[in-house]
Amino acid sequence: MGVSLIFFSLLNVYCYLFCNFALRKDFKMDETKRILQLREELHQHNYRYYVENAPIISDQEFDFLMHELQDLEAKHPELFDPNSPTQRVGSDLNNEFETVIHSRPMLSLGNTYNREEVADFWQRVSEGLMGAPFQICCELKFDGLSISLHYEDGRLVRAVTRGDGVQGDDVTANVRTIRSIPLQLPKDGDYPRQFEIRGEVLMPWSSFDRLNAEREKAEEPLFANPRNAASGTLKSKNSSTVAQRGLDAYLYYLLGDGIPGDGHYQNLEAAARWGFQISRNMRLVDTLEGVFEYIDYWDVERKNLPVATDGVVLKVNSLAQQKSLGMTAKSPRWAIAYKFQAEQAETTLRQVVFQVGRTGAVTPVANMDPVQLAGTQVRRATLHNADVMASLDLHVGDRVLVEKGGEIIPKIVGKSPLPAPPLEECHNLAELEGLGGNEALPQRGSGEGASIPFVEFCPVCGSKLVRYEGEASYYCPNDTGCPPLILGRIEHFISRKAMNINSLGPETVDDYFRRGLIHDAADLYELTEEQLSEPLSSDNKGIRKILASIEESKRVPFERVLYAIGIRFVGEIAAKTLARYYGSMDKVAEATLDSLLQINGIGEIIAKSVISYFANPINRHFVERLREYGLQMEIGEQQKQAQSDKLEGQSIVISGVFQHHSRDEYKALIEQHGGKNVGSISAKTSFVLAGDNMGPAKLEKAQKLGIRIMSEDEFLSLIQ
Ligand code: IVH
Repeated sequence: MGVSLIFFSLLNVYCYLFCNFALRKDFKMDETKRILQLREELHQHNYRYYVENAPIISDQEFDFLMHELQDLEAKHPELFDPNSPTQRVGSDLNNEFETVIHSRPMLSLGNTYNREEVADFWQRVSEGLMGAPFQICCELKFDGLSISLHYEDGRLVRAVTRGDGVQGDDVTANVRTIRSIPLQLPKDGDYPRQFEIRGEVLMPWSSFDRLNAEREKAEEPLFANPRNAASGTLKSKNSSTVAQRGLDAYLYYLLGDGIPGDGHYQNLEAAARWGFQISRNMRLVDTLEGVFEYIDYWDVERKNLPVATDGVVLKVNSLAQQKSLGMTAKSPRWAIAYKFQAEQAETTLRQVVFQVGRTGAVTPVANMDPVQLAGTQVRRATLHNADVMASLDLHVGDRVLVEKGGEIIPKIVGKSPLPAPPLEECHNLAELEGLGGNEALPQRGSGEGASIPFVEFCPVCGSKLVRYEGEASYYCPNDTGCPPLILGRIEHFISRKAMNINSLGPETVDDYFRRGLIHDAADLYELTEEQLSEPLSSDNKGIRKILASIEESKRVPFERVLYAIGIRFVGEIAAKTLARYYGSMDKVAEATLDSLLQINGIGEIIAKSVISYFANPINRHFVERLREYGLQMEIGEQQKQAQSDKLEGQSIVISGVFQHHSRDEYKALIEQHGGKNVGSISAKTSFVLAGDNMGPAKLEKAQKLGIRIMSEDEFLSLIQ
């Protein structure tokens, strides 16, 4: 009885376990299926939304499906897929980009700027094809950065930037967040098993404007144009930043064996069917007139596009003809770019004012009659520096041509070939008074108002301006007494690589300066909560945060204090070198020119600048005050002991994943022992400090150049 009881109980337990297992397995099967189904559905919705602009479900329904998939994937980490639609949001992990050699070099295009050059291209192609008929595919030239995408079995496997054309950075993690780039092509598509497609990553105007507005609010430097913004974003170390910035992509070149047919245009049509975003504005033409029509149309119409374009690309359509035309060393003979003229506007110059920047550089800025240019009203333009200004030979009342270049601020590029309008049409004549009185009034033609010289003295503090060797700008040298320079020094002092007082921004610094609370960076250490409090506010959280980060900065190591005090020409590296060599502020302050010149990496300009900095009693007093407030004035005990010159003069590349220290720690160790950490392998590299999983491209390059690969343990015993 006892035995049968035990037997039945065991059977029971067994049955329970078995059924449960089977059930769970079933359940798991269901969830696996659901994950795959959701991924497929979301890929399709993504395509409809981002490429076709024709969604068939609401945003809310999309989010709902996405959440379901996220939940299921969290439950099943074993089913992780880097190409899952959930991965579009990116991650906060730090990307270090591996260098990848392109399977086929990424060539650039020859440029043309006028109709004659386009006609020459047509002629060359015609001759090259020995009079055979040909078609030209006309496309827009998108102004972003080129990308090469690799697909295997319909899945995105790698995305690489152009780099130098031979090798580029592997930016796959970042590219996965660009929603118009398909991660998984439809299962039943007629695409080759393996292929490459190239195109342009862009930041649409709408994303660009939003990003710059956010940066302005956060007091961060603005991006000059969508191209810079796209390129800065794609190189971001953090794919979640990329995901938020709204990048887009157009593909324009299909490569690989087994691509559908002989026509470039037709191949791209096929790629569009597979889910790629291809420009709808390509045209096939078979006459030169057709090319000119395309150019003329888009020169005007491009202003209405959501993305920046800077020209038109003309490509021979037949791949067989492309092959027979071949390449030159730099670019294909079968394609050419025609660059649009930058938009220009003409207006009247009224006055030139001189602005003193925070480095002391003096920039001439033109005030002009307002004029419409590339979508905005412009009334000021930069004249860059004294040389540019002299070459323009400007006079008050000149008719000038203004252009928006790559920079945010428009520039004057020349004088109008047309005569100035009659006097009555000029506004603001009153402004001209004081600039030469009536003689200054513009006559017909240009150049008849008062000529405008460059200033000799600082327009803010009156100091005589100086021009440093090799520099295009004139500078105000009064860095302890001229307000914009003082502000510049304070901003430098608090910056991330200096004292890292990150709760203070330039506007707050300006405000404290204007209110007379600070006159230099040392005054920051005397600020009190009472002084900073808003009269009517009881919430002082922000103020306490500022004071706390000022206090925290007292622990910043000496080498960064030496950088922060703002010795002209002493950048981060020179400050480190000086700190390591002399060990304390006192020793740096007492250093002679001879001694400074003996240091590897310190040249005459830096050495003289150090001497002149400490010769100024205002600077000495400033440094003394910083000492009193408790800033680090010598290198730490630990650092002193740990230092050596064992790696003196060596360039070291770090690659892979390490066991004993982080990458940053190894970087610091290399510097502590006199070596230099460099980013990429070249013939000058002394050795590669390699952890696990060193990138294959780096490994191959090191082996090819015969560069030693040192393990973590070998390195640690080398520096002991
Ligand atoms: S075709 C071998 N097509 O322009 C031909 N390029 O100077 C490869 N670009 O690096 C390029 N729009 O970044 C091609 N529709 C277009 C383009 C285009 C922009 C860029 C691309 C390339 C550069 C050439």
